[in-house]
Parts: sequence; C-alpha cells; structure tokens
Amino acid sequence: MSTTYLPLPEEKPKYVQRMFARISARYDLMNRLMTGGLDRRWRRLVVELCELPPGGTLLDVATGTGDIAYEALRAHPHARAVGVDLTWEMMAVGRRKDPRGTLPFIQGDALALPFADNSFDAACSGFMMRNVADIAQAFAEQRRVVRPGGRVVCLEISQPPPSLWRPVFHFYFFHVVPLIGGVVGRARDAYTYLPHSTLPFPDADTLADIMRQVGLKDVYYRRLLFGSVAIHVGRVAD
Ligand SMILES: C[S@@+](CC[C@H](N)C(=O)[O-])C[C@H]1O[C@@H](n2cnc3c(N)ncnc32)[C@H](O)[C@@H]1O
Repeated sequence: MSTTYLPLPEEKPKYVQRMFARISARYDLMNRLMTGGLDRRWRRLVVELCELPPGGTLLDVATGTGDIAYEALRAHPHARAVGVDLTWEMMAVGRRKDPRGTLPFIQGDALALPFADNSFDAACSGFMMRNVADIAQAFAEQRRVVRPGGRVVCLEISQPPPSLWRPVFHFYFFHVVPLIGGVVGRARDAYTYLPHSTLPFPDADTLADIMRQVGLKDVYYRRLLFGSVAIHVGRVAD
C-alpha cells in the first residue's frame, strides 16, 4: 500500500487537476458504481445541512461535475448555486447536464476563492479536502465567503472507527475500487490514488478541530456508512 505515489503538497494542484481531467468522462458513473448509488443520498444530506434560507445562495467548492450544486437547485428551486473547481474538464461534463445553464461554473482554486467576503449563505465541498494542499486554508476561505450565521459543510471519506466493518471496507477500498477503476473508469492509477489519499487525511475529530481553529462555530459531524464517510458542519460566527 505504501508504495503508491502521493504528490507532495506543492505538486498537488497540478497532479489533481491532470488526474480529474483524465477521469472526467467516467467520473459520475464510477461514483454510482463505487458507492452503489449512496453518493446521491450523501449529497442530498449535504444540501440539507447547508440550511439554505428561501432563495439563498450556495457555493459548491470543487464542484466537479456539479452534482451537489444541482441537487441544491432541485431541493430549493428558488436558490442560486455556483460551482467552482480547478478542472475545466470536470465542469464541462457538469455543464452538459443542464443545457439551460442554471448552474454557473467558474474555474478557481479552493485555497483562494474568487469571491468577495460574505457572498454566500452557505458553502460546501464534496470529496475535495483530501485533494487540497492546505485543509485549514480551504476551510478559512469558505468561512470568509459565507455570511455570518451561514454554514460550511464538508463531505469526505473518513477512517472508520475500529469494528468488523473496517477490514471489509479497507479490502473493498484498496483492492476492489482500483479494479473497478481500471475496468470501468479506465484509470486504475487514479482509483489507486483515491484510497491512498485517505491515509494521511485527518480523522473526523481532527478535521472538526481544524474547522474550529479557523474560527468556525458549533462544529459537529455525522458519520455515514459505518464511519467510512463523514459530513462536517460548522457555522460562521455572527
Ligand atoms: C472527487 S472530485 C469531487 C467533485 C464533486 N464535489 C463531487 O461531489 O462529486 C474532487 C474535485 O476537486 C477538485 N479540486 C481539487 N483541488 C482543488 C482546488 N484546490 N480548488 C478547486 N477544486 C479542486 C478537482 O478538480 C475535482 O473536480
């Protein structure tokens, strides 16, 4: 497991961008297959936990193909959502999902968001934090662009607590996912990077501490799929 290449922090943006550009065409299909469709339920929950007010605005950071932002527009037809991501190719797939263009896609870096302070009612990210070079900076940027009282919500893979499930999950994640990624996603290396990128990633409590350190309040998290996935929520101070 330890021989898999993981980029250094300074290499991450280019590495991650190239990788997601390569897998963009099959990204959604792979998500559905790897999670048995559960990813849709998790994205719905993210939107719920954003607690958007009527007609509110949501920033979906590292939107990829836009699935969280589109879910927000489905759940709140009067809301406005914006997707920002490093990788054009992912957003191009997302843009084709709605020819009416209800979701603006903007190229930008989660570590230096191209938006003014207090621009949104909530910000969220799905499966991004493992991929950024500076997790605290990513949360600090989301806190900055969300208005006081708004929510910052993070969906990410997590280390399941010790249980009978953990070895089953590890086997699936480290051995089966790269196989599916090779056959269906045609990118075994990208789907080998995926499980390995979780190894240096902070556990759920540590991630919650990072959110508190950047000034987010009332931080809590919900574990999903026996703790293999977690959704963290924080509030921007009034
Ligand atoms: C696993 S995909 C998640 C996409 C989407 N949020 C979802 O839930 O399916 C990770 C995305 O993060 C983006 N990403 C990684 N680092 C980023 C950064 N520093 N700034 C913006 N986007 C970034 C990648 O381009 C990729 O589209």
